[in-house]
Amino acid sequence: MCGIVGYVGPRNSQEILVSGLARLEYRGYDSAGIAVVDGSGHLGMRKRAGKLQRLRDSLADDPLPDGTTGIGHTRWATHGSPTDANAHPHLADDDRLAVIHNGIIENFADLRAELEQQGYVFRSETDTETAAVLLGREYRASGGDLEAAFRAVVRRLEGAFTLLAMHEDHPGLVVGARRNSPLVIGIGDGENFLGSDVAAFVEHTRRALAIGQDQIVAITPEGVAVTDFDGAGVEPQAFEVSWDPAAADKGGWPSFMAKEVSEEPEAVANTVRGRVRDGGIVIPELDGLDDLFTGIDRVIVLACGTAYYSGLVGKYAIEKWAGIPVDVELAHEFRYRDPIVGARTLVVSISQSGETMDTLMAVKEAARLGARTLSICNTQGATIPRESDAIIYTHAGPEVAVASTKAFVAQITALYLFALHVGRVRGALGAEAEAEAIVELEELPGRIQWILDNEQEHIEQLAHWMADTRSVLFLGRHVGFPIALEGALKLKEISYIHAEGFAAGELKHGPIALIEPGQPVFVVVPSPRGSATLHAKVISAIEEIHARGARVIAIAEQGDTAVLPKSDEVLRIPLAAPLFEPILAVVPLHVFAMGLAEAKGLDVDQPRNLAKSVTVE
Ligand code: M6R
Repeated sequence: MCGIVGYVGPRNSQEILVSGLARLEYRGYDSAGIAVVDGSGHLGMRKRAGKLQRLRDSLADDPLPDGTTGIGHTRWATHGSPTDANAHPHLADDDRLAVIHNGIIENFADLRAELEQQGYVFRSETDTETAAVLLGREYRASGGDLEAAFRAVVRRLEGAFTLLAMHEDHPGLVVGARRNSPLVIGIGDGENFLGSDVAAFVEHTRRALAIGQDQIVAITPEGVAVTDFDGAGVEPQAFEVSWDPAAADKGGWPSFMAKEVSEEPEAVANTVRGRVRDGGIVIPELDGLDDLFTGIDRVIVLACGTAYYSGLVGKYAIEKWAGIPVDVELAHEFRYRDPIVGARTLVVSISQSGETMDTLMAVKEAARLGARTLSICNTQGATIPRESDAIIYTHAGPEVAVASTKAFVAQITALYLFALHVGRVRGALGAEAEAEAIVELEELPGRIQWILDNEQEHIEQLAHWMADTRSVLFLGRHVGFPIALEGALKLKEISYIHAEGFAAGELKHGPIALIEPGQPVFVVVPSPRGSATLHAKVISAIEEIHARGARVIAIAEQGDTAVLPKSDEVLRIPLAAPLFEPILAVVPLHVFAMGLAEAKGLDVDQPRNLAKSVTVE
């Protein structure tokens, strides 16, 4: 939530800031703003409620003077509604100091009361302005030492924050700090960058440094200095950004979501690439970590949203191939109970962004309780992998649309690789089963592509016909159940239509009461080749809802004729081994949600009230 960018160097910072914000807008789009220090050492600021385009328009109508030092922010509102006044940057010290912030300052009310008592006046309802005003006071007290003042401020803040600040007395200097909220450094030639994630600067440099918890960074055109909150020097961890800058552009597609759905085959292929050697699964990142997998008797998967659904699918594979019991839990629920976790528990977190606060906090709690931790993540340099004992990266490439699509198929793929690896290390998996799974993994990209090539148009037409639908239900069983949940979430998220996913076996325990004539129900039908019994049971569920007037849209493998008599529509997927079907069955549901949102004329990439990375609790 909230995107942050900072720049120092020889170039006009405004263009760099606004293009950085464009790449970070997925993090929040309630308002946007920038501040720059111009050539004469004057600080200029512009901010506007609404999407980044409103800021762009304002800057085009009435440009700020050029400046080579600047900070920029795109907001997802927490404290204070999305207005111009509450937009960042916030100014202090007679408007000579600018501050931007991501996170929540939990003790802001006490700090604000303290400052108000001293006569300071506030212009917004935000927690951020408290940090700005406090920094102004500390700056004066320090005799104009921005870094010392900044250290004094961050030591007083509670909660989660990334803060950037600059002062017109110090052109060529931007200071930043982070606690439980993301910030990375981009290293250029004679210029340096800060960003909530590497997307902020990847078009300028791929050289990056990760900043740890409770650390402060000062960037100038000449260099970067990182310290802890007490000013002691720290060596940041360098990494090379592997994302191609063009990968974060729409590349001619009408939306990022359309582009990202089209990249689902590639996301799976890239996640498998380099991890199959001599007919076996090899995950180089896990070299030397066998004890993580042999010394455990339980796996707990923690994640939120779509990543949680990928975990639900992964449970079937881990239990089957690795023979370990798996619990899958919403990260925000885990943390607030008394979980029974110890040294023989491996906690696997799943997060596209690697910054989801609920997941991060749950991982930390698990580690505190003695568990070992492994992160499945799509974003280099993100916090959750850095807090974990081991990492498996999904190689889906940057995902910009708020609705997660290609990351979901990549997450299931990574979970399967993990399950196969652990199964082999623990001696639970035979070579034949591993070889069969590898063939399936390698066939997946082509099979997903088949769905996009052969069914996309049909699904989009269906979505168009259903544009006025007010409620859609999704049913699935076994690995199809999490897919029903994912189909429903995607539809709610971008189409604002009521949608629910159910386990088909639950129907008669309540949900069947929702069926009335015309109610659309998507049914994920398992292959009869996997389990004839399961298949038959899902076909009976179709008959039961059809008999009560439901409009049935079946997702079934090619050649399954049993679905035909009682289905109004059949969306076909290619044949695959049963465990691999969810990675295929979800594709029509992603296409459908996107098609329906488009048919309703909605902003597919930036749905209302949401942001891509949920970095506050
Ligand atoms: O970055 P993460 O994978 O940790 O995000 C988790 C969820 O917030 C995310 O999957 C969310 O549910 C998506 N917007 C769903 O499309």
